[in-house]
Amino acid sequence: ESMHRELQALLSTADEAEAEISGKDFDGFKKLFHRFLQVKGPSVDWAKINRPPEDSIRPYEKIKTEGLPDNITASLNKLAVVKLNGGLGTSMGCKGPKSLISVRNENTFLDLTVRQIEHLNKTFNADVPLVLMNSFNTDEDTKKILQKYKHHRVNIHTFNQSRYPRINKESLLPIAKHMGMSGENGEAWYPPGHGDVYASFSNCGLLDKLLAEGKEYIFVSNIDNLGATVDLFILHHLMSQPADRRCEFIMEVTDKTRADVKGGTLIQYEDHLRLLEIAQVPKAHVDEFKSVTKFKIFNTNNLWISLPAIKRLQEKNAMDLEIIVNPKTLDGGLNVIQLETAVGAAIKSFNNAMGVNVPRSRFLPVKTSSDLLLVMSNLYSMDAGSLTMSKKREFPSTPHVKLGSSFTKVQEFLCRFESIPDMLELDHLTVSGDVTFGKNVSVKGTVIIIANHGDRIDIPAGAMLENKIVSGNLRI
Ligand code: UTP
Repeated sequence: ESMHRELQALLSTADEAEAEISGKDFDGFKKLFHRFLQVKGPSVDWAKINRPPEDSIRPYEKIKTEGLPDNITASLNKLAVVKLNGGLGTSMGCKGPKSLISVRNENTFLDLTVRQIEHLNKTFNADVPLVLMNSFNTDEDTKKILQKYKHHRVNIHTFNQSRYPRINKESLLPIAKHMGMSGENGEAWYPPGHGDVYASFSNCGLLDKLLAEGKEYIFVSNIDNLGATVDLFILHHLMSQPADRRCEFIMEVTDKTRADVKGGTLIQYEDHLRLLEIAQVPKAHVDEFKSVTKFKIFNTNNLWISLPAIKRLQEKNAMDLEIIVNPKTLDGGLNVIQLETAVGAAIKSFNNAMGVNVPRSRFLPVKTSSDLLLVMSNLYSMDAGSLTMSKKREFPSTPHVKLGSSFTKVQEFLCRFESIPDMLELDHLTVSGDVTFGKNVSVKGTVIIIANHGDRIDIPAGAMLENKIVSGNLRI
């Protein structure tokens, strides 16, 4: 009741156009908030969790053996690519949308995406559109940049995800004073996670528009996953299913390593495949969840979803995505919570959903500057916007790179490398403290460089470090 009243009061501060959009957002928020109040206890009963049945997670190799038809163009024309573009580059020390950070030869995440799809359209004479889900944080900057792709062979659509009010942790009421974003009020709003894609996509009318154009599936992925290209074998697999057994949802999963302990995993729960996220796991079972032996795979967030199925589920209001309660402390010290949902959690609502266990190469996220160093290096080669592991690397594993806090911000990171070192024969690189790299350095095997507080290490141009520890003045 008091939430309803507060939202009405906020709406009264909006102008007419704003009130219409925000009214829709608030309807969604009210539903989410209502569910949040009703939820008691954990969303899964640990005892009821089962391993997914054998055929519900298929190896990619098996899908590949189904081959490709002569007319893959017909299938491509029923596809749209959706990139989740609501996030900012804050964790890499950048202002503005994350998708506008340069990751390879001056190309941003967005440039690479556009190049990939353009290449696909040209090669197969197809018309695969790119759809960007922006948030109020990213929409303006993204739209400005889109001008530059006007003459590229790819139709680009954008829509905005919802804007929800952050709520005070104690009172559970919105902290916003009005609908605006100015001053402190800017911290009062948030984009409610990528699970919002279903409602926003359908509310904005784009879902109907694409259906009317004959599109049947969307391929959804994080814009910061450079491995998330359109896979023709998975597409063909979807399109060639008998109509009465159509798989409405494919989640690409990949084998977990000890470094991937946090990713969500697929479980069988009450006769359905379900995504289990670490936030849903009771404390006593967290170690079990993280183990690579019990839960062998994790969600890459590359998803193939049937458009008519989204429409059906949206109309029936039948997607009860588990709520992720994200606590935050704002700059002024105020404790708030924001209610979020994840796109993959919807798997439980779709018919004949399945996982496909894909090679690790389809999961190449750039979350940190350590990831950035890898994708900028000669470990990868780029072809039409796609990165693949260089053929010159003799072993297929990716090296472990750990850069210290002086590398966190992309700007500072770039200043520390005159050129990106040769990493073809690298297994492990740890760098900590005030360290710079001259031109044409190469690092091989295990290399550890540690500049203690107050020290600075400049790796000279042309240096070759192989199985070396460099620390302070001590060089071993
Ligand atoms: P995150 O950067 O938050 O992802 O968003 P993560 O930590 O890997 O976690 P998961 O995928 O949530 O497990 C992943 C992608 O989703 C977009 C971001 O822009 C990024 O591409 N995103 C995230 C949105 O579009 N809207 C949101 O509200 C949150």
